Amino acid sequence: MTTQPSSNRKYISILPIALGCVLLLGTARLVFDNLKNSKETSIFQWQFWLQGSGIDKYFINVFDNNNNNNNNNNNNIYEDIEDCNVFEGKWVWDNLTRPFYTEQSCPYLVKQVTCQKNGRPDDFYQFWRWQPNDCNLPRFSAVKLLHILRNKRLMFVGDSIQRGQFDSMVCLLQSVIPEGKKSLHKVPSKKIFHAQEYNATIEFYWAPFIVESNSDHSTNHTVLKRLVKLDRISNHTQNWEGVDYLVFESYVWWMYKPIINATYGNPNDIKEYNVTTAYKMALETWANWLDSNINPQTQKVYFISLSPTHLWSSEWNPGSDGNCFNEKEPIHGPYWGIGTSLDIMKIVQETLQNLKTEVTFLNITQLSDFRKDAHTTIYTERKGKLLTKEQKADPKNYADCIHWCLPGVPDTWNEILYAHMLQDFYN
Ligand SMILES: *[C@@H]1O[C@H](CO)[C@@H](O)[C@H](O)[C@H]1NC(C)=O
Ligand SMILES: *[C@@H]1O[C@H](CO)[C@@H](O)[C@H](O)[C@H]1NC(C)=O
Ligand SMILES: *[C@@H]1O[C@H](CO)[C@@H](O)[C@H](O)[C@H]1NC(C)=O
Ligand SMILES: *[C@@H]1O[C@H](CO)[C@@H](O)[C@H](O)[C@H]1NC(C)=O
Ligand SMILES: *[C@@H]1O[C@H](CO)[C@@H](O)[C@H](O)[C@H]1NC(C)=O
Ligand SMILES: *[C@@H]1O[C@H](CO)[C@@H](O)[C@H](O)[C@H]1NC(C)=O
Ligand SMILES: *[C@@H]1O[C@H](CO)[C@@H](O)[C@H](O)[C@H]1NC(C)=O
Repeated sequence: MTTQPSSNRKYISILPIALGCVLLLGTARLVFDNLKNSKETSIFQWQFWLQGSGIDKYFINVFDNNNNNNNNNNNNIYEDIEDCNVFEGKWVWDNLTRPFYTEQSCPYLVKQVTCQKNGRPDDFYQFWRWQPNDCNLPRFSAVKLLHILRNKRLMFVGDSIQRGQFDSMVCLLQSVIPEGKKSLHKVPSKKIFHAQEYNATIEFYWAPFIVESNSDHSTNHTVLKRLVKLDRISNHTQNWEGVDYLVFESYVWWMYKPIINATYGNPNDIKEYNVTTAYKMALETWANWLDSNINPQTQKVYFISLSPTHLWSSEWNPGSDGNCFNEKEPIHGPYWGIGTSLDIMKIVQETLQNLKTEVTFLNITQLSDFRKDAHTTIYTERKGKLLTKEQKADPKNYADCIHWCLPGVPDTWNEILYAHMLQDFYN
């Protein structure tokens, strides 16, 4: 059963979180007042966590990789997912085939997500496998995916959640590529992994609102004074043109307040929009671009549904007063968090239905909503630095319940993406 919030205490708990940024005192109050009656509440911690969470400043070229893992599996069984809703199912304990890689075996992981290295004492979150009710997901094969990606580009577009999925995909693939034949580098707004022998690239492109905004700089992006240009997208799309596989995601940046400053038409005419209205307008701008630019013969488009947060433990454990920190098990059984906006889900669904272009909707929200145990919590960084001892001692204010540890939940998103790519490839 979905646990509904029972008191205002939940919203009050936003305050210390927002106060984590000393300058935000006034804002915190505003958020609190605005959102008392809104269900769009649980992401307010985002301002705290998204700051400085653009593209990490680093350049990696060819790492040692002595750790083979079992990604290279040529006798994988192709399971037909055509008539199966792979998003309905359950998490099952599987310490035999999970995780697909380890923090040590993937040299490309950034410290934001290496929870073990950052001191997380338990590693149970790595051993759960998503089991759809009516079918099996095809066994992930890095070799097979690289084969599909030969002479092609796969690009993830979105925010830092989406960057986590990119990082996961790179880790899933890189183990089968020998040293010297792979590289990862960063150019403004992008991270690009190159598998030389396949002439394949896996890319991440920073566009937290998908459309243009004043947060588009990959590292120096404004969080509080967000301004979204609902009808402008061309600065971004020039980076997407001709990409063979495009994977989009955008949610958490919208959810700071129920209203957002935006422009439509005249760039000087800044107005406050209801977030759901603004989100819809932005997706329409995106949809128009798709319909006039995507070549369905050669390009595939995917949209990842929203990634849930776990900011209030009272939602799954009534009477408790924490957040996702110290959670060691998934939620088993029906659960839908209050921060998981059904309005936004509906807008995405409607927009995709009205498109001429076929976009595959990867409905990962429910399965991720079960994973209260899988966030980075205090075993992460903020503004490029690992949390201090003092901060770690204060999980109520400092636990990140938005981003995910790797290996972890984003690997499952990629397994599902892979299942669809496989299907598209053979059809
Ligand atoms: C796998 O999990 C089972 C059940 O919890 C446990 O008994 C077993 O020791 C675990 N195996 C490994 C290799 O960790
Ligand atoms: C290498 O891949 C790119 C796309 O990523 C493609 O445009 C180019 O034609 C490929 N090169 C060869 C030799 O096929
Ligand atoms: C970040 O952007 C702001 C506003 O555009 C600018 O004033 C500031 O100098 C920038 N900071 C850095 C480190 O580039
Ligand atoms: C879009 O690109 C143009 C030219 O590079 C630049 O002047 C403009 O500021 C960009 N717009 C946004 C919203 O970043
Ligand atoms: C919109 O911008 C104005 C002027 O900068 C500011 O006063 C207002 O608080 C902003 N609204 C939101 C929802 O951020
Ligand atoms: C925003 O719009 C939605 C849908 O029209 C509506 O349900 C919601 O109450 C509006 N929110 C605000 C804060 O006006
Ligand atoms: C996505 O999944 C949720 C929960 O399983 C479901 O309620 C919703 O209808 C699904 N959306 C679409 C578009 O399939």
